[in-house]
Amino acid sequence: MSIVYLNNSYIPMAEAKISPMDRGFLFGDGIYEVVPSYNGQMVGFAPHIDRMNNGLSAVGIELGWSHQQWKEVCDNLIEKNGSGNLALYLHVSRGADTKRFHAYPEDIEPTVFAFAFEIPPAPVPDKSKVVGYKVATHRDLRWERCQIKSTALLGNVMHFQHGYEQGANETLLYNERNELTEASACNAYIVKDGVVITPPVDNQILAGITRHILLDLLRKEGSIPVEERPVTMDEVFDADEVWVTSSSKEVVPVIEIDGQPVGDGNIGDVWLAAQTIYSAGKLNY
Ligand code: PDD
Repeated sequence: MSIVYLNNSYIPMAEAKISPMDRGFLFGDGIYEVVPSYNGQMVGFAPHIDRMNNGLSAVGIELGWSHQQWKEVCDNLIEKNGSGNLALYLHVSRGADTKRFHAYPEDIEPTVFAFAFEIPPAPVPDKSKVVGYKVATHRDLRWERCQIKSTALLGNVMHFQHGYEQGANETLLYNERNELTEASACNAYIVKDGVVITPPVDNQILAGITRHILLDLLRKEGSIPVEERPVTMDEVFDADEVWVTSSSKEVVPVIEIDGQPVGDGNIGDVWLAAQTIYSAGKLNY
């Protein structure tokens, strides 16, 4: 039985209860993070907490926790749930009100919930061990504030389900200009002629921590050029390689889009180099 954190208590998951009047439940009014941890070592803890703090201020939830307070919760969850391969889910909702009224209520305490769940072992940079993704595509129908990591994920859930129902692992999304935005729960990249290209950080995508770490490591290592610029779907279908990234998956090669092979249909050499650089450097963040 997993032990979760809820409002200052560590309790078995089955005992964790919140009010149905919690605005997280009624409105999806909250912010969350997912931090990966391998054998007790978290990847990107500080940038994850910084992003959560940015999200909380963007929606006017005043929690005021320090990095140290979050670190204690994460360390305790790792200790109480076994220190294998875990993702730490951190969730802050605006809290429980007595009525259902859209405006932000004053004087309610945020609800803080965190739990750990098992994730696969850290990916290894080995073409024979990685399973490439098959993805679907869909016009991005979410809102124009995708930089906020809101718990209101129905738009993402519906996009993921679209791919899932076709047997796809993810759904690549594109805007009204036919430009790639991201995937339903991952950032997206193409590789063309050895250059890694990914859409810039703006309101159409979540500024992924894996994206941040990967681009920073690639630029520091220097052998693979990186560009942040709009990418059309024509470029996606014409790419040599396509990848998606997220905290629990790192860099995942995409081998098929809408039933068509990416490049020659095999896992690419640039993916291998990038995942090698990521695996070597990720614990420095
Ligand atoms: N998903 N874009 C979206 C829409 C996401 O939901 C995520 C993460 C990412 C990648 O961000 P990061 O590298 O910081 O994990 C991009 C998380 C893991 C989830 O919802 O489970």
